[in-house]
Amino acid sequence: YPLLAHNTFGMEVSTARFIEYDTLEDLQTLLTSGELVEPWLHIGGGSNLLFLSNYPGILLHSLIRFVEVIHEDEAQVCVRVGAGMVWDDFVAYCVEHNWYGAENLSLIPGEVGAAAVQNIGAYGVEVKDLIQSVEVMDASGKELLYPVAECRYAYRHSLFKEPRMNHLIVTSVTFVLSKIPAYNLSYGSIQEELNKRGEALSLSGVRNTIIDIRCSKLPDPAVMGNAGSFFMNPVVDRAHYEKLKEAYPDMPHYEVDAQRVKIPAGWMIDRCGWKGKSVGAAGVHEKQALVLVNKGGATGTEIAHLAAEIQESVAARFGIRITPEVKFV
Ligand code: EPU
Repeated sequence: YPLLAHNTFGMEVSTARFIEYDTLEDLQTLLTSGELVEPWLHIGGGSNLLFLSNYPGILLHSLIRFVEVIHEDEAQVCVRVGAGMVWDDFVAYCVEHNWYGAENLSLIPGEVGAAAVQNIGAYGVEVKDLIQSVEVMDASGKELLYPVAECRYAYRHSLFKEPRMNHLIVTSVTFVLSKIPAYNLSYGSIQEELNKRGEALSLSGVRNTIIDIRCSKLPDPAVMGNAGSFFMNPVVDRAHYEKLKEAYPDMPHYEVDAQRVKIPAGWMIDRCGWKGKSVGAAGVHEKQALVLVNKGGATGTEIAHLAAEIQESVAARFGIRITPEVKFV
C-alpha cells in the first residue's frame, strides 16, 4: 500500500498493510481479534515522520472525526474532538465559533490525536495549555482517560511519546477554550505583523496573521516535501549559554527557568552555514534552517544522512547535541 499521501516528506514508500477505522468499536475489534500483529504503528497525518524504508507491518490510521461540546458557560467551552480530525480544521472551527486559545496553532499540519501526543506548539502556545484530558485505548482494547496533569507534558513531549506507552492509541481529546477574548501576542513578530495590517484586533485577524507568517517561512509540503522543524530546540545549562553568548552576542534564546535556557536550533544550523544547502535531493530550507526538505526524489536515508552531518557540525561549533523532533520509521 503506497504511503505517498500519508507522509508530508513525500517519500515514495509503502507499507505491507494500511488499516483505517472510523469507530471506537472497529478499533476495539482490531485490537482484540488478534488481527493486529506486530509490528504495527499508529500514524496521524504523517507530518512528523521520516520513512527510512518500506514499512514491514501494519500502519493504522483513525478516521474518528467529530466535535462535541460537552459543557459550556459564559466564560468557557469544553469540547471533545475525535483524534482523526485534521488539526487545522479544528482551529478553524474554534475561530468560527469565537472560541479563543487555539488560533496561534493555526496551520500546523497533522491531526488532533497526534497533536496531543507531540504537544505541538507555536508562537507562545502549546496544545497542552488547551487540553483538559486525553482518551486512549490500550493494546487490549480497554478505554482509559488521562487528565492533562497525568500526561507528563513538556516541550514537544508527553507520556504518549514514551516507549513504554507506545501502544496507547489516542481516540479523542477534550479541550477547554475561552469565550472571553484573550490573546497571546507576545511571541516574536506577531504584534508587529498585526499592526502592519492596521485592522482592529480580532480572532480571525490573529489566525490570518499566523497563517501568513507560517507561509512566508515554512515550505508547503504539497510543493516541497518536509516535516516542519526537523530538530527540537535544545535546552542547555545557563553556564553553557553564558559562555556561548560571549562568542555570539547576537545569539537568540528563550528563558526556561533559573538554571536553563533554550537556544534555537535553526539559528545554530544557519550559523554553521547550512541554510539553503543541499546534498543530492536532501536540502536545508532556504528561509528556515530548522526545516529539512525533499527537493524531489530524496530517500529517507539521504535526509537522515544530511541530518547527521548537521548534528555533527552544530556539536563541533556549539558543543550542543541537537536531537530530531521528527520520528524516524
Ligand atoms: N533563526 C535563524 N535562522 C534560521 C532559523 C531561525 O537565525 O534559519 C533564528 C530566528 O531569527 C529567531 C530564532 O532563530 O531568532 C527562532 O526562530 P523561529 O522563531 O523561526 O522559531 P524556531 O525556533 O525556528 C519554533 C518551533 C516551530 C514554531 C516556531 C514558532 C521548534 C522545534 N520549532 O521554531 O515549530 O512554528 O517556533 O513558534 O520548537 C514545528 O515544530 O514543526 C514547528 C514549525
